[in-house]
Amino acid sequence: DETSTSASGSAQEPAAVQGAGSVKQQISNLVALSLRATVPEVDVEPIVEVCTGKFGDYQCNNAMGLWSKGKGSGTSFKNPNAIGQAIAKNLPACDVIESASVAGPGFVNIVLSKSWVAKRIQDMLVNGIKTWAPILPVKRVVLDFSSPNIAKEMHVGHLRSTIIGDTLARMFEFSNVEVLRRNHVGDWGTQFGMLIEFLFEKFPNWEELGSQAIGDLQVFYKASKQRFDEDAEFKDRAQQAVVRLQGGEEKYRAAWKKICEISRNEFDQVYKLLDVQLEEKGESFYNPYIPQVLEKLSSQGLIEESEGARVIFIQGHQIPLIVVKRDGGFNYASTDLAALWYRLNVEKAEWIIYVTDVGQQQHFDMFFKAARMAGWLPDPKEKKFPKTSHVGFGLVLGADGKRFRTRSTEVVRLGDLLDEAKSRSKSELLQRLTENGKIVDWTDEELEQTSKAVGYGAVKYADLKNNRLTNYTFSFDQMLSDKGNTAVYLQYAHARICSIIRKSNMDVEELKVSGNISLAHPDERVLGLYLIRYAEIVEEACTNLLPSVLCEYLYNLSEMFTRFYTNCQVVGSPEEPSRLLLCEATAVVMRQCFQLLGITPVYKL
Ligand code: ARG
Repeated sequence: DETSTSASGSAQEPAAVQGAGSVKQQISNLVALSLRATVPEVDVEPIVEVCTGKFGDYQCNNAMGLWSKGKGSGTSFKNPNAIGQAIAKNLPACDVIESASVAGPGFVNIVLSKSWVAKRIQDMLVNGIKTWAPILPVKRVVLDFSSPNIAKEMHVGHLRSTIIGDTLARMFEFSNVEVLRRNHVGDWGTQFGMLIEFLFEKFPNWEELGSQAIGDLQVFYKASKQRFDEDAEFKDRAQQAVVRLQGGEEKYRAAWKKICEISRNEFDQVYKLLDVQLEEKGESFYNPYIPQVLEKLSSQGLIEESEGARVIFIQGHQIPLIVVKRDGGFNYASTDLAALWYRLNVEKAEWIIYVTDVGQQQHFDMFFKAARMAGWLPDPKEKKFPKTSHVGFGLVLGADGKRFRTRSTEVVRLGDLLDEAKSRSKSELLQRLTENGKIVDWTDEELEQTSKAVGYGAVKYADLKNNRLTNYTFSFDQMLSDKGNTAVYLQYAHARICSIIRKSNMDVEELKVSGNISLAHPDERVLGLYLIRYAEIVEEACTNLLPSVLCEYLYNLSEMFTRFYTNCQVVGSPEEPSRLLLCEATAVVMRQCFQLLGITPVYKL
């Protein structure tokens, strides 16, 4: 226990200084030590924020709250400002903090020591960006994302879920959290009856068919739906097929597997293009667990009979959550309850996160509440984990302000979309290189790789940079512009830093070990300070499940770099060794942001 290493500034460095974690976390640890010395009788969490004013880098906001709490209990302080003064004075002596002062009613403004900031950057350059991983209070996360439905279209909504989910997964993984990436595909349900019967009818040799032979599965789905709606006899067969499938009859299971396999091949192509890893555990996987899970809920008295269905009534909701349909079948909600049970008890996940459009919010809200009623999840006021979160997102709109569609089809094929982004970025690149007479420096391979990185990155970034809850308009022109907050602009910014480093005659690898970063110029200090905020940004993006926080950081970072580069000469200046290291650190942090956003950085543009 560090209580004994009190605030008197003992010779031993406080644990906060040696420990890993974000800068904000480290400052919080120091503030915690000071609080223990200042108000030993009160148990209080440190409140530390990035400074909003210009008198500090971080600020501690505990004094005001302590004052209003302590008024009755007779503390010896005259006013909140006096508490602030004491907090400032009791901060342990260490090399992190340069000075602390108190403003207004008791804000403690903390100025970081330049040499500590410089050292932190240099350590990262030597030991790698992984040393800047935040420490999160969770070890294992289930991330349920992408999750398209078999034989139905994989639409732009699924693209959003895939992109947002993948970035969240990457951010948690970077933070040393184990992530179970789960593709909860819709591979179970009554539509399979008609699909199977249609398969038997159209392709008597279905068992020998390769995965391409059926052609487009969406067309197949539509045709079978039409048959189902028009022919009563077919409909009858289809309904029996569901029963035979669910009863486990071999031929029906084999046909079901075949259809899933064809769908899976299509999905996998998109995942490959996007470089997204997922493990499929579809709805069918949880089907065997449903009866026992519902049995448990029943014995707790949570399930009631209502209009022939079995339901759970949930406070604050007009309609109950249906868990067994009138025909005795299970549904989306029963599957999700079984899946949650599995994730909590078998997979032992502490945080279960679902990425779907906001339209499903009510569903998640209701079944999370049901799980809480059953005692699976603690009261959110008492304990933090295990917990569940729904990561909702808005619609993708076309230029007409309506749901995004392409000219030829009603649905947008994701592969086509990525292709178009790539070919557009390729022609722009070709044009620019030809104009500048630089086309000779590029191989075909390089051109191809670069257009792919720029084009795909643009599609992902255009999605991720928005607050996910808002709708956004899909526009190739906008996302592929090299101006404003776009991936293309950021790729240029990064490539430019790389070219500055190449232009210098100094060896950056050598400098990392032997050189020294000085942050003498104000723009150097601002840049350095922003660089070391990286860990707390990732921490915030993970905690609030908001990839846009990371995008905003990346964009701001590139703007700060521009300011630094405009005001501080790098190549050929006396400060070249130090400034080159700042360039390198900026490039490393930018690349790591790209990596978390699933974007391939380019080094030359
Ligand atoms: N298949 C669903 C859809 O396309 C998404 C599934 C989300 N995950 C879940 N556990 N409900 O809308």
